[in-house]
Amino acid sequence: MEFSRTDFEFAQSLDAADELARFRDEFVVDDPNLIYLDGNSLGRLPKRTVQVLHHAIEQGWGRRLIRGWNDGWFNTPTQLGPKIAQLVGAQPNEIIVTDTTSANLFKLAVAALRAQPRRTKIVSDVFNFPSDLYILQGIVDLLGNRHQIELIPSRDGITIHPNDVTAAITTDTALVTLTHVAFKSAFMYDMAAVTEQAHRAGALTLWDLSHSTGAVPVDLNGSGTDLAVGCTYKYLNGGPGSPAFLYVRQGLQEQLRQPIWGWFSADRPFAFDLDYTPAGDVSKFLGSTPPVLSMLAIEPALDILLAAGIDRLRAKSIRQTEYLIFLADRWLAPLGFTVGAPRDAARRGSHVSLRHPQGYRINRALIEATPPAPTVIPDFREPDNIRIGIAPLYNTFAQIHRAMTRLREIVEQKQYEKFSTDRLAVT
Ligand SMILES: Cc1ncc(COP(=O)(O)O)c(C=O)c1O
Repeated sequence: MEFSRTDFEFAQSLDAADELARFRDEFVVDDPNLIYLDGNSLGRLPKRTVQVLHHAIEQGWGRRLIRGWNDGWFNTPTQLGPKIAQLVGAQPNEIIVTDTTSANLFKLAVAALRAQPRRTKIVSDVFNFPSDLYILQGIVDLLGNRHQIELIPSRDGITIHPNDVTAAITTDTALVTLTHVAFKSAFMYDMAAVTEQAHRAGALTLWDLSHSTGAVPVDLNGSGTDLAVGCTYKYLNGGPGSPAFLYVRQGLQEQLRQPIWGWFSADRPFAFDLDYTPAGDVSKFLGSTPPVLSMLAIEPALDILLAAGIDRLRAKSIRQTEYLIFLADRWLAPLGFTVGAPRDAARRGSHVSLRHPQGYRINRALIEATPPAPTVIPDFREPDNIRIGIAPLYNTFAQIHRAMTRLREIVEQKQYEKFSTDRLAVT
């Protein structure tokens, strides 16, 4: 995709031709001077979610009280599954919404390792989200230190070379577990190719889809993958700390045993049997009482995503990240920035990290702007990545233009020098 013009009118003309532009109105966007480029960390609030939560609190909790559980609350984990399944190429009965990404990873990784008792290797990579690696390290400890974790290295700090994946997966590998789109560089694996390699070696696969779901097309069934987890607060706009989802391929559901035998994972929770019998379907991977208000907040955004269509969203996201990289090359490279994301759009998710030695302070200057300068909100990932998330449901080309203009101004005028290098608790 080639761009040649850097003027603002060109950005506006791209927005005028955007067939997804109307979806921006579905979200609460009330500050024209705020450019929000962090939908890959916390998605925006859909207008309908406000109504849904009001209704749930006033009518559901307020009036229906405990009867709400039989009005639908009890089924929220399995009811949301089919909508997420449409976004990630799964069957409706293969996905549930429950717990957190880390907790779901724990349940599924333990289940996978216990199903492969003679295999001792877990393959992951140096790009994986640290929480995922901590969970794996904890599992190795829990299971008696019989397993070794091998991390696939990166040759360039941005991508993973397919040959290094091949070299890591061997016949003693029990589980290959990777984040599909890397949280820092946005490198995206070829899920089908890696899954095929893992299966050829007799290993199971477990993908973290936190930076993929709602941003890039995922075909869990088509790729033959075994297990997956992902969050709902990023591109799925489910709200801060909203529950995560998990996927278990239908053919594995009977065989796998997860380690948290909570009552909601039991066959008949309200029989109150003293001995545990797991549910006969994907509900056996639940834990306990769902956080109902947070569950109900997820659905409105899923409906918006499904109406927009993941293929159209991906096409716009590629165009927008290409445009951002084009402006970065023209304006920011001479100021010491490098692009910390793959150049090949097919191997890139929906965010772009721009690296600069003063990245942290520049990021603070973007956020703490004095009007009329716009407030630009990306986030920062150590050591020097300003991570710019593109959420094609509501981000515009004009916003990208304004944010890149602002970045240029902050560095040219050294405005970042006013800010400390001391890190806030959340960066
Ligand atoms: C790729 C990835 N995996 C896992 C997590 C952790 O998710 P949670 O806090 O829901 O366990 C995150 C959080 O941002 C993430 O980006």
